[in-house]
Amino acid sequence: MSHQVRVTFEPQGRAVHVLAGTTVVEAATLAGLALDIPCGGAGICGKCRVQITSGAPKAGPGDKKFFSEAEIAAGWRLGCQTALDQDAVVSVPQSSMFSIQAQILAEAHKNSGQVLPAVRKVYVELPPPSLEDDHADLRRLEQVIGKVKIDLPMLRKAPGVFRQSSFKVTAVLTDHHLIGIEPGDTSSHCYGAAFDIGTTTLVGSLLDLQTGGELALVSGLNPQVRFGDDVLSRIQHACAGADKLNELRDVIITALNEMIARLCAEARVDATHIYEATLAGNTTMEHLLAGVDVAQLGQVPFAPCWARGLMVGAEELGLKIAPNGAAYLFPIIGGFVGGDTSAGILATRIGKMAGPILMVDIGTNGEIVLSHEGRTWAASTAAGPAFEGARISCGMRATNGAIEKVVINEEIETGVIGGCQATGLCGSGLIDLVAELLRLGVITPEGRLLPADELPSSLSENLKRRVKLDSTGQVKFIVCGGDSSDAPEVSLGYRDVRELQLACAAIRAGIRILLKQAGLEATDLRRVLVAGGFGSYIRRDNARRIGLLPVEVSPSKIGYVGNASLQGARCALVSTEARKELEEAAAQVVHVELSCNMDFQAEFAEAMIFPEPGV
Ligand code: FES
Repeated sequence: MSHQVRVTFEPQGRAVHVLAGTTVVEAATLAGLALDIPCGGAGICGKCRVQITSGAPKAGPGDKKFFSEAEIAAGWRLGCQTALDQDAVVSVPQSSMFSIQAQILAEAHKNSGQVLPAVRKVYVELPPPSLEDDHADLRRLEQVIGKVKIDLPMLRKAPGVFRQSSFKVTAVLTDHHLIGIEPGDTSSHCYGAAFDIGTTTLVGSLLDLQTGGELALVSGLNPQVRFGDDVLSRIQHACAGADKLNELRDVIITALNEMIARLCAEARVDATHIYEATLAGNTTMEHLLAGVDVAQLGQVPFAPCWARGLMVGAEELGLKIAPNGAAYLFPIIGGFVGGDTSAGILATRIGKMAGPILMVDIGTNGEIVLSHEGRTWAASTAAGPAFEGARISCGMRATNGAIEKVVINEEIETGVIGGCQATGLCGSGLIDLVAELLRLGVITPEGRLLPADELPSSLSENLKRRVKLDSTGQVKFIVCGGDSSDAPEVSLGYRDVRELQLACAAIRAGIRILLKQAGLEATDLRRVLVAGGFGSYIRRDNARRIGLLPVEVSPSKIGYVGNASLQGARCALVSTEARKELEEAAAQVVHVELSCNMDFQAEFAEAMIFPEPGV
């Protein structure tokens, strides 16, 4: 089995462990960086240029065609043609990045001149009252910062703060609303938190609202999973009794507060200096977070309670940030197409790109957005949690010990996150494994895992030995471990294949319905953007092979945009202009309800069959 190598990408500073023999393009994808590969990695366009400053392998014929001798000596290589065989440091020029992601990364590194947050802080030194000047405290302040609106709780604290600090205070303002008076000069401490609230995973980012720069990033499991792993089971739980909705709300708020504490500890920031939080989640997640009844989301026509973005008090919501801080819940497009999709639309500006262009956010809920000639359609489909490792016998999240890559030749090779012993399969490993077994004929197009006596004769003896029966007499394919070895067995069973088929079929059928609505074919698509934290890890060819992405779209048109929901939450946090743009864009999206669509079931049934390769 091949050894693992560590690849560090500069200037992003991201490092990943991959199997020796992995190309730079693949390793970059694992690191969440999408290189532009216009020729699909055929080595003929020369666009995927990277500089390997340490650990560069020998230059190949493709490199010699595009680089001078001096460039080759300096480590320049084609990312798609260069397989890494030792630890390496790779520098990726901006020109080699997939354009949308380059745009998103650029957004994330906006300089302070472009950052327009809702919150601003002004330090003032006011003359204290005297017999000669007995003006009111607030009048003194307003003479410097202009007229402000102030709430009663804030007013009650004001006289004390002015006097304790000898009238040297920092005013915290959102528009003309005075939300804080802090003793001394705290003007350089102005922060915000952006969250992606996934059905399975939560991600939080702490931003400096003066520069737009990210100070810390944390993630964790959505603790609501113990009440059910998809949105429908959460809705059922919320409706099961008087306190059930509050129970769901409490666990998510507690988890968010823990994440805020972790963000603050990592960045050495005081949580009371976080003045705003933006929260992007699907419709159900946002309703549960707000403690709003979800019963209507469980019944046709699945009408949400609100559409426009909601600005609420952070304290009211339960978030432990600045006492008068605010929380912004992203606009809901319709039905189950919620704030995570509108955040993705903001992050990618998909509606402004030359189309037809498709965005697929792959998660427990698959969100699909299609944009063409100024119109945008969006749908949500219940893919289930298979991509996040749930409902899979040896499934796990993409953390240390998860097999994230599988290559099968004579033998089986695996890439394990963290370079440690394999303990399970995460979504990308599952997709690779099923794609490889389909290619080898071990799995049929209908999704049947063949028993030993039906395996193709061309299959190597090593691979045949991996096909066994489990304790219930069902066929399984052993990836690693088990039997005499001490390592835990990681295997694939027929139920796992079925879960993956269901997940892929839901997304593929959704894509077909949206294309039909727009009068388009998959071959018309100019670009397919794959979003979602997990999406960045999948390999284009294998995703097409199992029918998750349209097989008719060439891999060169498929690009990764990372966690677009989180990026949208970041954009809206640092820019009120972006928030306005978001509200306008979300209001114009046409929501397509798949469960009421006559064609969806037929498309879904058809999509349960794995497509023919290269169709
Ligand atoms: S040469 Fe075209 S993608 Fe590498």
